[in-house]
Amino acid sequence: MDITIVEGDITEQQIDAIVDAANSSLTGGGGVDGAIHAAAGPELLSHCRALREEAWPDGLPPGEAAATPAGRLPATHVIHTVGPNRHAGETDPAVLTSCFRRSLEVAVEIDAVRVAFPAIGAGVYGWAGADVAEAARSALDEIAADTTGRFDALEEVRFVLFDGATAEAFRTAFAGGAR
Ligand code: APR
Repeated sequence: MDITIVEGDITEQQIDAIVDAANSSLTGGGGVDGAIHAAAGPELLSHCRALREEAWPDGLPPGEAAATPAGRLPATHVIHTVGPNRHAGETDPAVLTSCFRRSLEVAVEIDAVRVAFPAIGAGVYGWAGADVAEAARSALDEIAADTTGRFDALEEVRFVLFDGATAEAFRTAFAGGAR
C-alpha cells in the first residue's frame, strides 16, 4: 500500500473515496465538510439524510465512519467520519486514531482501494497537526500489523493537507516508515 502526502484540495482528488471530517449530524458544516458538500452538490446532503435515517438515527458518533455516494465530486464515495472535538472535552487521541482506522475499514467494505484523507480534527475541533499525524500513523501501523488480510486490497492512502505546516507534520510522522 502506498502512503502519499500532498498539499491540495481534497475535493479535487480523482480517487475512489475521500474522507470528510464531518460532525455527528452529517448535515454539513464549515471547513473541509463545507467544501466537500459545496463541491458535491445537494445530493450529498440527501445521501447523508438517508444514512442518518437508515443507520445512524442518533447521529454518527466520534470515531465512527460511514460511506455515501459522492454526488458531483470526482471521487466515487465520501466516507464521513467524526473527529473528537477538543473544545467539547473530547481529548482522547484513540478516538482520532479510530477515525482513520474505521474509515479504512469502511473503504474496504465498499471496495475503495485508493482513499484520500484530510487532517481530521486539525481545524474547528482543535487538534494540533502533529497529533493528527500521529493518530493517522498509529492507525496505519495497526493496519500494517493486521494479519487477517482484510486490508490487502488497499492500494493507496493519500493525505491531502491544506497548509504547509500540517503537511510537514505528516511528513515528519511518516518519515522512514516503510510499511
Ligand atoms: N481540502 C483539504 N483539507 C481541507 C480543506 C480542503 N478543501 N478545507 C479545509 N481543510 C483542512 C483544514 O485546514 C484542517 O487542517 O481540513 C482540516 C480539518 O479541519 P476542519 O474541516 O475544521 O475539520 P475538524 O477540525 O475535524 O472539525 C470538524 O468542523 O466544519 C465543521 O462540520 C464540521 O463540525 C465539524 C467540524
